[in-house]
Amino acid sequence: MQRITTPALAEAFIAEQITALRQQIGSKKVLLALSGGVDSSVVAALLIKAVGTQLTCVHVNHGLLRKGEPEQVVEVFRNQMKANLIYVDAVDRFLNKLAGVADPEQKRKIIGSEFIRVFEEEARKLKDIEFLAQGTIYPDILESDGVKAHHNVGGLPADLQFKLVEPVKLLFKDEVRVVGKALGLPDSMVFRQPFPGPGLGVRCTGAITRDRLEALRESDAILRDEFAKNGLAGKVWQYFTIVPDYKSTGVRDGKRLWDWPVIIRAVNTRDAMTATVENVPFELLQHITQRILTEVKGVNRVLFDLSPKPCATIEWE
Ligand code: XMP
Repeated sequence: MQRITTPALAEAFIAEQITALRQQIGSKKVLLALSGGVDSSVVAALLIKAVGTQLTCVHVNHGLLRKGEPEQVVEVFRNQMKANLIYVDAVDRFLNKLAGVADPEQKRKIIGSEFIRVFEEEARKLKDIEFLAQGTIYPDILESDGVKAHHNVGGLPADLQFKLVEPVKLLFKDEVRVVGKALGLPDSMVFRQPFPGPGLGVRCTGAITRDRLEALRESDAILRDEFAKNGLAGKVWQYFTIVPDYKSTGVRDGKRLWDWPVIIRAVNTRDAMTATVENVPFELLQHITQRILTEVKGVNRVLFDLSPKPCATIEWE
């Protein structure tokens, strides 16, 4: 099969898929969990072109998304593409379930299973849904059992099974991006760096608290803003901040502080099995540090993680 590497090939793929999707779906209804990541966004855009409002997208805001992401999903899909989008504010529900849970695997399980429960509840409210669309891509088929892995917590219950619609399942990530661009999705969606399923949850180490999560979201937004302004966004493979669950002393305006550190991580890799640290200019690190210390509440130190993988993993938990 020819790889999709150019806009013309993407256009041909889109036309082909629109015909195939219309044939498969007919006048029936389709449901899609739309995270705002590149795979589900491309599937949503394809289905909107093919079957319009026969598609219902469900976006679950679990409180662990990056700054601006839920708003972007609503803006792009509901306001611009006129999609049938259900936005579920499940922030309190997730954060309450996660309160006091420090074990990383337990956190992943809670986030994964709660996500399925929320999606299930929304699916039950809808009538006559016949198909479930998924952003399965070829590496998912190679690496798992042919479905998007939901953190090993199982899928929808037996009485809620739909026929699958998986229009990008033979594509690799770079091909999905070329198709996304041709579909008119914004670059910030199409070329976004990898983001773990459990989101900011694995970067707010230990038991998640709302104030620490806020410090994480704000510091991550500053890092992304500065990397974009300084031509690193698109060049560095993955970059983010971490807020660990311990404090250190500091001083501000002559007063003693007891606040969190923010850790900056910026790595390059081919396959995420090994990774090297990006050589971020020192002046830029100083500028980002200054911004985080001035703009983010509850933070008194900024550190840069110099550890390659191995032996450090890319994420902190
Ligand atoms: P590590 O930390 O294992 O990360 O070096 C390798 C890549 O995988 C991503 N990652 C995850 N992705 N669910 C995901 O969907 C997860 O639980 C998860 N943990 C790590 C990580 O961001 C990096 O790109």
